[in-house]
Amino acid sequence: MKAAILVESLTGNTWKAADKIGASLQQEGWSIVGFDPVRKPNHGAIQEADIVLVGTWVHGLFVVGQAPWGIGGIAKLPAMRDKKVAAFATFALNPGKTLDVMTRTLQTRGAEVVGGLALHRAKLDEHTETFVDRLLGAVSA
Ligand SMILES: Cc1cc2nc3c(=O)[nH]c(=O)nc-3n(C[C@H](O)[C@H](O)[C@H](O)COP(=O)(O)O)c2cc1C
Repeated sequence: MKAAILVESLTGNTWKAADKIGASLQQEGWSIVGFDPVRKPNHGAIQEADIVLVGTWVHGLFVVGQAPWGIGGIAKLPAMRDKKVAAFATFALNPGKTLDVMTRTLQTRGAEVVGGLALHRAKLDEHTETFVDRLLGAVSA
């Protein structure tokens, strides 16, 4: 499988998560055809990919108002009609409905959202592994 990864990150946690996800997928024999900021999407890589992974971080007041940071950039991603997409978001305390918002926004780009997971910033190893396991399950289903 070919994956393109798109990331929005302020302090690096989401890049780190994306790195770990990419490395695990490569170990499973996948190719990572793009690894770019959400704000500078690589259109060729998105087109070439079988699946696009979109990651950002949770912004809010920690217990209320949580939302995916950079949702405007996600809403402006190129059309991904019928392309498989999975979302992830790193957080510190409580992700709220961040994944739901990401899913709905990605669906407006025409994507088939096959899954999403919130990843605690202090448990990136464990949570990225869970993300990859679920992703492998979702694409083989
Ligand atoms: C201004 C700001 C607001 C945040 N709000 C929340 C929040 O509402 N809920 C939460 O769980 N984490 C919140 N966080 C924590 C970040 O989501 C977390 O540190 C994340 O991993 C940052 O990703 P990054 O390192 O890729 O920028 C906030 C962080 C910042 C800087």
